[in-house]
Amino acid sequence: MLFDPTNKTSTLSLCQTQTAMAVLKWVFLIFACLSLFAPPPAATFSSQQIPAKFLDLARRPELFDWMVGIRRKIHENPELGYEEFETGKLIRDELDNMGIPYTYPVAQTGVVGFVGTGSPPFVALRADMDALAIQESVEWEHKSKVPGKMHACGHDAHVAMLLGAAKILQQHRHELQGTVVLVFQPAEEGGAGAKKVLDSGVLENVGAIFGLHVSTKYPIGSVASGSGPVMAAAGFFEAVISGKGGHAAIPQHTIDPILAASNIIVSLQHLVSREADPLDSQVVTVAKFQGGGAFNVIPDSVTIGGTFRAFSKESFIQLKQRVEEVITRQASVQRCNATVTFSSDEKHFYPVTINDKRLHDNFQNVAEQMLGIKSIKEMKPVMGTEDFAFYQEAIPGYIFYVGMADDKKGPFVGGHSPFYRVNEDVLPYGAALHASLAARYLLENQPEPPSSKGSSHDEL
Ligand SMILES: *[C@@H]1O[C@H](CO)[C@@H](O)[C@H](O)[C@H]1NC(C)=O
Ligand SMILES: [Zn+2]
Ligand SMILES: [Zn+2]
Repeated sequence: MLFDPTNKTSTLSLCQTQTAMAVLKWVFLIFACLSLFAPPPAATFSSQQIPAKFLDLARRPELFDWMVGIRRKIHENPELGYEEFETGKLIRDELDNMGIPYTYPVAQTGVVGFVGTGSPPFVALRADMDALAIQESVEWEHKSKVPGKMHACGHDAHVAMLLGAAKILQQHRHELQGTVVLVFQPAEEGGAGAKKVLDSGVLENVGAIFGLHVSTKYPIGSVASGSGPVMAAAGFFEAVISGKGGHAAIPQHTIDPILAASNIIVSLQHLVSREADPLDSQVVTVAKFQGGGAFNVIPDSVTIGGTFRAFSKESFIQLKQRVEEVITRQASVQRCNATVTFSSDEKHFYPVTINDKRLHDNFQNVAEQMLGIKSIKEMKPVMGTEDFAFYQEAIPGYIFYVGMADDKKGPFVGGHSPFYRVNEDVLPYGAALHASLAARYLLENQPEPPSSKGSSHDEL
């Protein structure tokens, strides 16, 4: 309203002087010109400078060494999904040290912090905290101290990076134009922790969420990203095929579930080869086959199990229905009965990971300004899953890879291996990318001021 020319002229037209009109016109013109070139209010650094400036900060020894320390501490004490008690305690202590308020517990063991104005817009950053049931085979000073458990997917690094981002953002809290929600999420590895965080309601009003994963596939200093579907939807099934056991030499007195299960497995292969669109990627794998135990006994029943995956919700639902039909009907061909159970109800299947197009553009800009265009690789879609997809069903979301391969430091094997290693040089990149994406998102998603509803602000 302040710059609305019609308003001002109409009130002042009471004066009836031409001079007043002329002066007002000039005042308005000057204001209009100033508003064109003025920086957004209270932003003391330009939006373009953020990525490089934050990377610079994250690389300083005080921040880098602190992140390395946190990562190693978590690495030594890995905790499985929904058991991240010590990890969560460490996170809360560090947030307390920084003066960042948080909610705890969220989704059993999760911690959710808040940096900035406390008012909209809201943007979320996510780090997963859980380890895997793997015995570490890497001999080093900070090897896992818990037998049979290991951070073999880099989630220890993810936590350290998000705490690093929290520190950078908190240092610049007066320049943030909204609120950053820091999501330390439990149980990414098969526990659907993201779904529980979402169900807790803590992300209501959040306009966008970013997540990252370290990757040994891409070189240090590079990132990999993609728009649209990047990871598959996945479900799991188990089926009990029951027949009638008996002597292996007298098959006519038995109903053989091993033969029935074998035919079921072969028939399941035809779903992808004969029923799916060859251009619509799908997978059906039987990974479990249990039954029998002796050379001369036909067992009463056999249990099979596996996974099915697709790149769209429609294909996924269709595939699920056909998996069930093929198992039960094929069983009946050999006079067996079959019961099929799926991992859980429809809501708990891992959805397709779909990267938001607009956030992809935001990411490309930030990554280019931080790392240069040559360091942005293309993320090829894979049939793996990410529980980040649960967020993306509810909120525009974006997940990307941060590279950490470095020949000078020897080979880095892929995740879920007992020989998995994190190249700690990756920590500043993750922290700076997190912090930059959030700060930039807030600057670029300011609510429209009420005065902009009129037609007098076309210049924006
Ligand atoms: C299959 O189920 C039917 C109906 O319950 C039952 O009569 C039959 O005996 C079952 N067959 C086997 C092989 O378990
Ligand atoms: Zn993993
Ligand atoms: Zn992971």
